[in-house]
Amino acid sequence: MSVSVEPTTVEPKRGEPAEALRPHAEEAFAGELAALAAQDDRPRPARWKLSPWAVATYLLGGTLPDGTVITPKYVGPRRLVEVAVTTLATDRALLLLGVPGTAKTWVSEHLAAAVSGDSTLLVQGTAGTPEEAIRYGWNYAQLLAHGPSRDALVPSPVMRAMAEGMTARVEELTRIPADVQDTLITILSEKTLPIPELGSEVQAVRGFNLIATANDRDRGVNDLSSALRRRFNTVVLPLPESVEAEVDIVSRRVDQIGRSLDLPAAPDGIAEIRRVVTVFRELRDGVTSDGRTKLKSPSGTLSTAEAISVVTGGLALAAHFGDGVLRAGDVAAGILGAVVRDPAADRVIWQEYLEAVVRERDGWKDFYRACREVSA
Ligand SMILES: Nc1ncnc2c1ncn2[C@@H]1O[C@H](COP(=O)(O)OP(=O)(O)OP(=O)(O)O)[C@@H](O)[C@H]1O
Ligand SMILES: [Mg+2]
Repeated sequence: MSVSVEPTTVEPKRGEPAEALRPHAEEAFAGELAALAAQDDRPRPARWKLSPWAVATYLLGGTLPDGTVITPKYVGPRRLVEVAVTTLATDRALLLLGVPGTAKTWVSEHLAAAVSGDSTLLVQGTAGTPEEAIRYGWNYAQLLAHGPSRDALVPSPVMRAMAEGMTARVEELTRIPADVQDTLITILSEKTLPIPELGSEVQAVRGFNLIATANDRDRGVNDLSSALRRRFNTVVLPLPESVEAEVDIVSRRVDQIGRSLDLPAAPDGIAEIRRVVTVFRELRDGVTSDGRTKLKSPSGTLSTAEAISVVTGGLALAAHFGDGVLRAGDVAAGILGAVVRDPAADRVIWQEYLEAVVRERDGWKDFYRACREVSA
């Protein structure tokens, strides 16, 4: 006997469906995905919405034969994306590994959206994630009234992905307690999820695979068992290799986020973005960009993702309280907040950086003044 699993949807109650604050990737980029599907004549693995080539193009961007422009979602080495996509077409699962803010979650969502047309079959890993979140749970009212039955079973996102041949996602895999992580071993090696209470199982349908993300810094907390690790192909997402690459990522994302928040486009924002990225990179690397001055690194991660929020916050300030142009004064408070996580040690590091580096830098007087103002 096998159990069929019905997809569940949440219908808006009445009137027009409300506009989601953050639509899922498959909704936000529905146009691009449809254009890719229409023009993609390469072979598609079972139940894939697109061929591996088209999935990679969706992630990395490109122009289709009919002129449709596919925006790049991920900016980084093409080969990494190709390896990630092909892994999903094999019997091994994909583990995206990297330091915070390297787009692991972002890439995982877009991969699931492009491969399966649905990025929502998601388990968020925490120290308290129970086995039921990966396997299945029970509707206790049903269970008490009628005993274990298919109707009383509450499938996990992973079980649904198996039954429907879709991509499941597990976020922050290494935060999940080791014994719960190991639930995934049978799923990934036997491709089945036994339900002993019903004397049955859910067998994975072709098209099923799983993308997990894990943070480098969490490693060691609950290191993956070697048995589980063997079920995964690991792709390490790197930090952007150069200032230019990081400025490019930040400005693209800020532009997208700004549009979704209806912020006016800032005409000359790029210079300010470059300064934010430069400050973050120098403090992260512990050395100035010319390689001359050694710096202490603060405790925060100062990731690309944080640079994106600092600039987005700055743009909102400029739009609502300034003249619409992004200036040093709009990003200074955000930078301070990102750098000074530990009020004592980080503040000293920041003050030293301000006085020794920022103050002396050509063309950075306004930036120095703005930072001094918020740091006082
Ligand atoms: N190389 C990149 N290309 C495109 N976007 C990027 C890149 N690096 C970071 N970003 C952006 O950074 C933001 C945060 O990324 P995301 O949340 O996926 O990071 P993460 O690696 O999952 O971090 P964490 O370990 O904190 O969970 C996203 O908006 C993403 O667009
Ligand atoms: Mg993440």
